[in-house]
Amino acid sequence: MENNQVIINADIEQGTINKNIYGHFAEHLGRGIYEGIWVGEESSIPNTNGIRNDVVAALKNINIPVIRWPGGCFADEYHWKDGIGPREGRKRMVNTHWGGLVENNHFGTHEFMMLCDMLGTEPYICGNVGSGTVQEMSEWVEYMTFDGESPMANWRQENGRQEPWKVKYFGVGNENWGCGGNMRPEYYADLYRRYQTYVRNYGDNKLYKIAGGANVDDYNWTEVLMREAGHMMDGLSIHYYTIPGDFWTGKGSATDFTEDEWAITMQRVLHTDELIRKHSNIMDKYDPGKRVGMIIDEWGTWFDAEPGTNPGFLYQQNTIRDALVAGVSLNIFNNHCDRVQMANIAQTVNVLQAMILTDGAKMILTPTYHVFEMYKVHQDAKKLAVDINVDSITSGGATIPQVSVSASKDKDGKVHISLCNLDNHADATFTLNLRGIVDPIHVAGRILTSEQMEARNTFEEPTVVEPTAFTGFIVDGHNLRITLPSKSVTLLAIES
Ligand code: AHR
Repeated sequence: MENNQVIINADIEQGTINKNIYGHFAEHLGRGIYEGIWVGEESSIPNTNGIRNDVVAALKNINIPVIRWPGGCFADEYHWKDGIGPREGRKRMVNTHWGGLVENNHFGTHEFMMLCDMLGTEPYICGNVGSGTVQEMSEWVEYMTFDGESPMANWRQENGRQEPWKVKYFGVGNENWGCGGNMRPEYYADLYRRYQTYVRNYGDNKLYKIAGGANVDDYNWTEVLMREAGHMMDGLSIHYYTIPGDFWTGKGSATDFTEDEWAITMQRVLHTDELIRKHSNIMDKYDPGKRVGMIIDEWGTWFDAEPGTNPGFLYQQNTIRDALVAGVSLNIFNNHCDRVQMANIAQTVNVLQAMILTDGAKMILTPTYHVFEMYKVHQDAKKLAVDINVDSITSGGATIPQVSVSASKDKDGKVHISLCNLDNHADATFTLNLRGIVDPIHVAGRILTSEQMEARNTFEEPTVVEPTAFTGFIVDGHNLRITLPSKSVTLLAIES
């Protein structure tokens, strides 16, 4: 293969990119749910039944297929019965994990399901193994999905919801190696087997059960879970955050960083590929048919909290660097769609690598939002085979490929190619060879880029980083001569 060439094999399909790879995670943490999504019916911020109209409209535009809720670490302290019934009577609790705030439980099961309805999104409920009982988890499923006469179904109806909800995705615990109970994998595997026994399918509601998975490169966790409980699960999760610094002593600033930190961030997001391959190899040993999905239900950047904000709220700004992390991650997930069946970016609004930031009634869209909007065309499309031979770059002690790519074909035969130039300085110039496409071809492109590596949208200047038309290509038959600017995420649409 020639140097500086990318081949898109439009006639070689390699499975379907599950739309759930474009999933989200929204936890009761900081201003993620309260203020970010839920303002209450009495708020002066325009809302529908308590949920912000501006946030819903923006999120609808990125076609969120699935949202994981209520945590995170919060899930293993959450008692769902506190969050139903008349709101003024709901129990107030302390959100001990995240900032010690009083949680008034005004956003509970009914409100979350209402959000999902408004967005046309599937719920992914995470149950409490760490501090909850088997009965509590079992009754939550009964409350949500039982159709007929039963104590929980009757209670749901008394609370205003006649029909059961459709719930497919159910997580049995979260990070049970850490905030979810500090368990050993052998112990959690046994608990998983026990709890999931009572997570029942009622009527035609068939649950997809997700076991709490490994932290980063804890391959032993995956080994033990697959060996002891693989046959009782549909999905196994993995969590991996892109942190340029050290988790405990300083993660690094979201907006004030060096070129070396840029390079290290790129190196660390690329590490996702190795993690998926190694965890997959272990899963293949026990599940060669790939029945069990890999569920990357927490991923994204994690920086030091924005100065002046509560560190327990995990509020961070979002730059073009975050856009690159999103673009590269989604390319990697697309390229592993044989095993990766869902991914949930952490988190939707005001927390970690958010799509949306709010300040009172104001709202801005982050560079990460724009990547999700551009990439939504890959949802449920056929993954195409890609061959890549492009330059590597060395910066900050890191040697990394300059370009990241994935490609898909949608149901109408349109090919979409997402291209990231990870280089902080230089354009990436290469030939894109489009194989297996009938002449003549028509190419359209959009690009997200900026001059400055810290470029971001603010409440004062909300449109600094936005997609624009991409014209950096020359069509020559089936070859495109491409020039991608530094620090860019591009989406090409090819029709013939
Ligand atoms: O997303 C923030 C936290 O990160 C989640 O609550 C937890 O599961 C993870 O450690």
